Amino acid sequence: MRTQISFASIAGIQTDLLAVLAADTQAAKTPDARPQPALLTGDPAVQAAAAGVLSTGEFKAGSNETVLLHAPAGLAAKRLLIVGLGKQSKATIHKIRDAAGTAVRFAKPRGIREIVLALPSPENLVALSLSSSKGLPAAGPAVEGAIIADFDPDTYRSDRKDQSIQSFTLVAPPGADHAAIESALAEGVVVGESQNFARSLVNEPGNKLTPTILGQRAAEMAQQVGLACEVHSTEKLRELKMGAFWSVAQGSVEPPALIVLRYEPEGVDNGPVLHPTDKDPSVGAPVLGLVGKGITFDTGGISIKPADNMEKMKYDMAGGAAMLGAMRAIALLKPKVRVLAIVCAAENMPSGTAQKPGDVQTAMPIAPDRPGKTIEIINTDAEGRLVLADGLTFARQLGATHLIDAATLTGAISVALGKTTAGSFSNDEPAYAKFEAALRVSGEKFWRLPLGEEYADLIKSDIGDIKNAGGRYGGASIAAEFLHTFAEDTPWIHLDIAGVAWVDEAKPFVAKGPSGVAVRSILEWVRSW
Ligand code: BES
Ligand code: MN
Ligand code: ZN
Repeated sequence: MRTQISFASIAGIQTDLLAVLAADTQAAKTPDARPQPALLTGDPAVQAAAAGVLSTGEFKAGSNETVLLHAPAGLAAKRLLIVGLGKQSKATIHKIRDAAGTAVRFAKPRGIREIVLALPSPENLVALSLSSSKGLPAAGPAVEGAIIADFDPDTYRSDRKDQSIQSFTLVAPPGADHAAIESALAEGVVVGESQNFARSLVNEPGNKLTPTILGQRAAEMAQQVGLACEVHSTEKLRELKMGAFWSVAQGSVEPPALIVLRYEPEGVDNGPVLHPTDKDPSVGAPVLGLVGKGITFDTGGISIKPADNMEKMKYDMAGGAAMLGAMRAIALLKPKVRVLAIVCAAENMPSGTAQKPGDVQTAMPIAPDRPGKTIEIINTDAEGRLVLADGLTFARQLGATHLIDAATLTGAISVALGKTTAGSFSNDEPAYAKFEAALRVSGEKFWRLPLGEEYADLIKSDIGDIKNAGGRYGGASIAAEFLHTFAEDTPWIHLDIAGVAWVDEAKPFVAKGPSGVAVRSILEWVRSW
């Protein structure tokens, strides 16, 4: 998709589809005055072209509601599409992201390959309480929404019709700051494409995306954007004594991949990293450690899952993919903070070499003179926390002062929060405050759930230090508390995205399939340091 900004006057723009936004003003209903949606474009020609349909009351400007006019009078565009933002009092910048996506997904099946979207004028953003000190914040989210909406998951259909949008143009309102809007567009392109990169990985089936291939895809991406990348396998896991990670990988003929990406910005203290046990995180420049669960297929192992819906478990690497997507964006947007990412990729299979319930595994030691924690395996299907335990320890050993992990970790998180809000957990208020601020930029929905000793008590083992499962109730918090044992006092955020990493029902602005959740929020968290 080519993206660009136009500073031309809207009426004269020749295009197959001109899209404009409208909000439901909820004007008082009187017998003679119907509530009319308000267009967010001040352009008089657009106002005149839309006046007729807006006065009928048949279009209410509900969220992502659309109405199409052919050959709109007074405009050079062939079609005018009005997209609703919902109630004006509740409209946010995030509604503009979705609305841009709705325009794209409206156009795709109709054979329309170019779209021009009029950005709302600053006065209208103010009316929506959407103004920002940065000038024009709508361009970034709008182009993100368009790119996200252009993604379709049908890559292996032989009759696949390429419906992708070739050209997407944002029209700046009069008086817009050219430089600010151009840079907002450029950033939005990076963000949207990075989210789609993560989605393209998650979409791949287990046979096409083994841990080894995920490692190759990460290395290719790293090369393209200029990140340092190492991909290790079995030998390195043994050398580092990653007994928890290996216990998951041991049941599969596919070797594991330990993917390490590093972003080292210029002009930031890139000096030698002290050992985590010597290092006070409040001193010196932070090193952010991103850790992702990369289970390329989760059968459950010997504690095998039921057949129904097991095919969905190809998306059990969505946390790892989110980290790769975020790293791609970080490499291109160049924040002034050091970042390292670790993706622990393995396939969880039942076999003659698979681990068994009752087995005891020894996790990676944080320092050579300290023994790794011993883990009693209660359920081989609680494998995500095992690979992450060693991933978190490795990130700390490599010098991460602050950690964030993402994982499709528990079914319990969707029982608690449903399919639209993901779970978050943290042992550190300042780091979490930054994450909450990041959510206001990304528009993604996370809800913080508790950690606590009560949960830790449920995973005490009789034979070893800890067990990997502790009953049905509070499953997401128990899993988080398991990870906490390995993050220890290092400031850490855990994101459980099991409920939201896959979109089961298409929305007007996004296809069914991988959502790419957490890429934007992790990126914004990193940029906030
Ligand atoms: N990958 C699953 C969690 C999951 C479930 C992701 C549904 C996406 C959709 C994870 O490895 C798992 O199996 N968790 C178990 C943990 C239990 C055995 C303690 C679960 O949630 O049932
Ligand atoms: Mn599992
Ligand atoms: Zn899993």
